[in-house]
Amino acid sequence: MGRAADHPIHPLFVDRWSPRSFTGEPVPDAVLKSAFEAARWAPSAMNAQPWRFLVARPGDGWWESYLDLLMPRNRLWAGRASALILILSARRLDRRGETVENVSHSFDAGAAWANFAHQALLLGWHTHGIGGFDREAARERLHVPEDFAIEAMVALGRRGDLDGLDPEFHAAEAPNGRRPLIDTVFAGSLETPAFAQEKDAA
Ligand SMILES: Cc1cc2nc3c(=O)[nH]c(=O)nc-3n(C[C@H](O)[C@H](O)[C@H](O)COP(=O)(O)O)c2cc1C
Repeated sequence: MGRAADHPIHPLFVDRWSPRSFTGEPVPDAVLKSAFEAARWAPSAMNAQPWRFLVARPGDGWWESYLDLLMPRNRLWAGRASALILILSARRLDRRGETVENVSHSFDAGAAWANFAHQALLLGWHTHGIGGFDREAARERLHVPEDFAIEAMVALGRRGDLDGLDPEFHAAEAPNGRRPLIDTVFAGSLETPAFAQEKDAA
């Protein structure tokens, strides 16, 4: 896979990446259920579980409308996915009988999506987050009330070969890298890196 972690981690984290070449084969309910089950166990503020997932699969009557929401460039590859999932999050929560703003609804939905992606990978399925879609049209056409934020879409599929992928994306069809910890983790405030050493000795 060509990704090397700078510090010891479970291989799952570097093995998850976002391909655009998919086989288009149907995804079994069991796979989706397991991935959503993993998402369900994500932590959230006051255990509000603000995430909601809307699923479309080829032939289910929703698929074409979901594809239609995508920016044209994303439509070029996402049509070969096995499912498109729209992630929503509830903006408010119930605190001891009172409805209050939930300031971490997006943060918590992000945790759930990460669980989803990793569980899918453990089952042999890849995911690809999509921010390039028409959120206003999604809200209107899928009847999403204002109480819910529209967070992102996710394409899920089994990796296919390059033949099925628009040539425009061939060069980018490989796992990318990450900014090092030295530029990411700081001691107390943004001025000083928390750790001087960039990588553990090999
Ligand atoms: C919220 C979100 C939105 C994204 N939007 C798009 C998108 O519109 N089109 C696309 O091709 N990739 C999109 N991506 C994929 C990212 O570019 C990709 O996750 C990032 O480069 C890191 O690569 P990796 O997932 O392979 O590790 C998105 C990812 C996330 C999490």
